[in-house]
Amino acid sequence: MPVVEWSDELSTGVVGMDEQHKVLVDMINYIYKLLEEGKRTEAMEFFSDTLVEYVNMHFSEEEKMLERVGYPDLENHKKIHEQFKKLMMDSVPKIKEGNEHEFKTALALVWGWLYSHILKVDKRYGEYISSKES
Ligand SMILES: [Fe+2]
Ligand SMILES: [Fe+2]
Repeated sequence: MPVVEWSDELSTGVVGMDEQHKVLVDMINYIYKLLEEGKRTEAMEFFSDTLVEYVNMHFSEEEKMLERVGYPDLENHKKIHEQFKKLMMDSVPKIKEGNEHEFKTALALVWGWLYSHILKVDKRYGEYISSKES
């Protein structure tokens, strides 16, 4: 069973970004599925390689898009991404060493952070873009 289902509540209304957010949700669900199956090493590797890389790619794509549309709160949004990236990247070396406690903590943090970021922060650019279009 997935930890979280995608719902319209999470939609920013920006198709390309919603697609990437859906991939993030899928990746988190996949990690929890690996854990359920007892595949701890795979789960940790997927987290510290694939998920981390995708988050970094997504932030950079999102920032480029916000720049293109002239989003007024871009600098602040970038700062929020940077702070989170730092937190996430700090956990990677410890996870690579096989620190399971660090991994569980980081997974919960990343998951909770991404969910509330999409819901509360990313959705604001969706409102800005749709107000510009109408
Ligand atoms: Fe964002
Ligand atoms: Fe985002």
